[in-house]
Amino acid sequence: MNPLAQALNQQIQSANPHVLDMLSDFGKEFYFPKGILSQSAEAKAKAKRYNATIGTASEDGVAMNLPSVMGAIPGITPDEALLYAPPAGLPDLRAAWQAKNLVDNPGLAGVPMSQPVVTNGLTHGLGLVADLFVNPGDTVLLPDKQWDNYPLIFGLRREAVLRDFPFFAGEGFNQDGFAGELAKLAAEGKKKVVVLLNFPNNPTGYTPTEAEGEAIAASLLNAAEGGMNVVVLIDDAYFGLFYGAAPMRQSLFAKLAGKHPRLLAIKADAATKEVFVWGLRIGFLTYSVGGAAADSPLYQALVSKTMGCIRSLISNCSSLSQTVVLRALRNPAFRAEHDAKVAVMEERAAEVKRVLADAAFAEAWDAYPFNSGYFMCLRLKKIGAEALRLHALDRYGIGTIALGETDLRIAFSCLEVGQIEDLFRTLHQAWQDLAGA
Ligand SMILES: Cc1ncc(COP(=O)(O)O)c(C=O)c1O
Repeated sequence: MNPLAQALNQQIQSANPHVLDMLSDFGKEFYFPKGILSQSAEAKAKAKRYNATIGTASEDGVAMNLPSVMGAIPGITPDEALLYAPPAGLPDLRAAWQAKNLVDNPGLAGVPMSQPVVTNGLTHGLGLVADLFVNPGDTVLLPDKQWDNYPLIFGLRREAVLRDFPFFAGEGFNQDGFAGELAKLAAEGKKKVVVLLNFPNNPTGYTPTEAEGEAIAASLLNAAEGGMNVVVLIDDAYFGLFYGAAPMRQSLFAKLAGKHPRLLAIKADAATKEVFVWGLRIGFLTYSVGGAAADSPLYQALVSKTMGCIRSLISNCSSLSQTVVLRALRNPAFRAEHDAKVAVMEERAAEVKRVLADAAFAEAWDAYPFNSGYFMCLRLKKIGAEALRLHALDRYGIGTIALGETDLRIAFSCLEVGQIEDLFRTLHQAWQDLAGA
């Protein structure tokens, strides 16, 4: 093993040996090299005369640039737009995102955690966690209502055993099913589990209530208390898009961070959906575990391993995108602008609920509970989801997503309020065509 990896493992081991056990073999081997990037970072601080370290080009003291490039991005300097960002991300962006998370999640005040590491969108963050914490054969516990990329990231790429439980029981989160699966894993003698939870949920648009969130956290802490190492990966892709009073307002991360030495909470979030900048590809990973102070070498070691992993695959994330997101976060209008867009989405969700209340639809589908996010999901009756999707598309020009046998996902985020009723009435017509009703 590389001595730098050994040193990082030692840092983790002496702060909290359970976290070392949670790492995959690959994660244990990983380190950030003292190579070009770290030498160049040292030179940036000290080489006041000439800095001839890095593979960029400069002219007249700024990044060499073509007017045809810079002309497309007025208001951003060549250095901000074109130079490489550090592998963990722009320090100011990391600090600004952390500050935002603390405002959004007051429960995190004073809780020890790493600084967020910038990732190339949330997908990349999930892939990094999979690399660092999942060995072939490890169990990943997740709800059956899930984003269709999870099996690729955890199952195919890392050969995890995906174990799912029914997401809903009646009109709410299936707490008994979830706690039951954790208890079964403990009874099977499993030493480690990776739990993957995503609220607001894709595809259903459901976020647990505060009481349900408390129960979820209690089950996870109970599993850790029982001696299992628990890595909880919280996919907060749609965080902040909460409608009405029911959904819990803070991330599940706030209920788990720093709570138990055998429970490593990882917050994977992103500007992608929250800031409505899908193609900019800016996400973040934040780590927190019980028994490690904020300045613990454990966090530095986890961040270094994450940086090594980023370095090995994509080197670093777009500095132009990071600059754009940072400027937005610093803009005093940001909160008000964001709240206004959440209100637009909430109005659409309310319109979906109003339209679906029509008893005429009862023959064709039930709606799964939804209170947040971009989506809602129908559970179809009699007609298969793929058959209805194809017919609605071919005959009526309506695009939806079929998931499994019965579920049809509707992204109301892409519909104007005035289009929603027509969409559902037409879908119903399409269902009637197929059902011969
Ligand atoms: C639940 C969930 N997680 C992660 C992602 C990926 O986000 P990003 O585009 O930032 O990679 C998505 C995107 O659809 C998602 O629905």
